[in-house]
Amino acid sequence: MNDFVFHIPTKMYFGKDCLGKLNAELKSFGRKVLIVYGGGSVIRTGLLDRIKDLLGDDFEVFEHGGIEPNPKIGSIRRGADKCKEEGIEIILAVGGGSVIDASKAIAAGACVDFDPWEFYGGPRRAIEKALPLFTIVTMASTGSEMTCGAVISNDETCEKLGRGGFPVFPKASFLDPELTYSVPRFQTACGAADILSHVMESYFKKDLDFCLLDRMMEGVMKAVVANAEKVLAEPDNYEARGNLLWAASWAINGLFGGGSRQVWSCHPIEHELSARYDMTHGLGLAIIIPKWMRYCMDAEPETRARFREFGENVFGVTDECAAVDSVEKFLYETLGLASSLKAAGIEEIDAADMAEAICRKNNINGYLTLDKLAVQKILEACR
Ligand code: NZQ
Ligand code: ZN
Repeated sequence: MNDFVFHIPTKMYFGKDCLGKLNAELKSFGRKVLIVYGGGSVIRTGLLDRIKDLLGDDFEVFEHGGIEPNPKIGSIRRGADKCKEEGIEIILAVGGGSVIDASKAIAAGACVDFDPWEFYGGPRRAIEKALPLFTIVTMASTGSEMTCGAVISNDETCEKLGRGGFPVFPKASFLDPELTYSVPRFQTACGAADILSHVMESYFKKDLDFCLLDRMMEGVMKAVVANAEKVLAEPDNYEARGNLLWAASWAINGLFGGGSRQVWSCHPIEHELSARYDMTHGLGLAIIIPKWMRYCMDAEPETRARFREFGENVFGVTDECAAVDSVEKFLYETLGLASSLKAAGIEEIDAADMAEAICRKNNINGYLTLDKLAVQKILEACR
């Protein structure tokens, strides 16, 4: 077992009435609040007006809307500039992972005199300071509300890169399952695929010495599979939405890593897909995951035992091939996601060039080490 420190400074509010605590939480951090939101769902659902009512006269409210899915550095630059011009004291992110990630980058960018992209690409400067960040989560997916990581895209360089820093941990996050009722079917499915993938990235590891975490992860994965199906059948099912939402936060908050330094496998491959094709993150993962599973079992037959254990404990099947079949059934039949890039509308990819870009700095040192050729093979299987 590895040594580790588990420290999450984010206060998590969960439930129907949790927004009632918003005003009191923000008050001690200042008066000038920048509300960051996406393409307009928060306007259509009335959530933005509700938040403004809750903040009332206690705050001076500014807005920075239009954050794109796969948030772009341009939106972050504009947000950071607005913070500096207006003397913003608090960032309030209202949305899914893209809005929360963008808000983290804005919160950090507002405190420096260099281009916020320098946190991500090039010199990769450390995030040493940030405006206090609060989040109101509107979809169950990335878990960004309980982490200090953010993934930002640069459309000029065609890169999508992640970066973390303790100062951008949200001070508090508000999770009301009812706010996720309006998430469209496709995004609900992509979110569920993303949550499952986050747990799988930690579950498939070489050191099998932390069975406590294995059993917890299997429980979370079973809950994701069961509740995603329920939510798709009944979008207003509070319990099912709530289970997915809370699973999303825990799938990625570091608990399941258990001090492991192993990097993730499917995520770096997917980030290259979304960087090049602006693909929805969960959809890209759904296409990749079963191809990666098959690649691992073929390349290193000793991995089969772990895939068998996963199949038995999550899906109740008794062999490793049935485990992959079960994952495919969940992703492509239950969630209804595309099973190939072609089915997702991407006619052709340059798998060798993508693999080169993914492995430019390092091989993917994940469950199996994936070098350029391995990544290329997985991408070719995704076509
Ligand atoms: O933009 P609006 O209009 O709000 O619509 C969004 C968006 O179109 C919509 N949506 C969200 N909540 C809604 C809603 N529509 C109706 N009702 C609601 N309640 O859903 C669409 C997708 O939103 P987005 O925030 O892009 O989705 P997600 O939460 O999946 O975030 C994806 C981004 O997070 C990154 C991904 O790479 C991607 O850029 N990730 C961040 C991670 C992290 N910070 O640790 C880890 C993840 O693995 C991931 O890489
Ligand atoms: Zn993810």
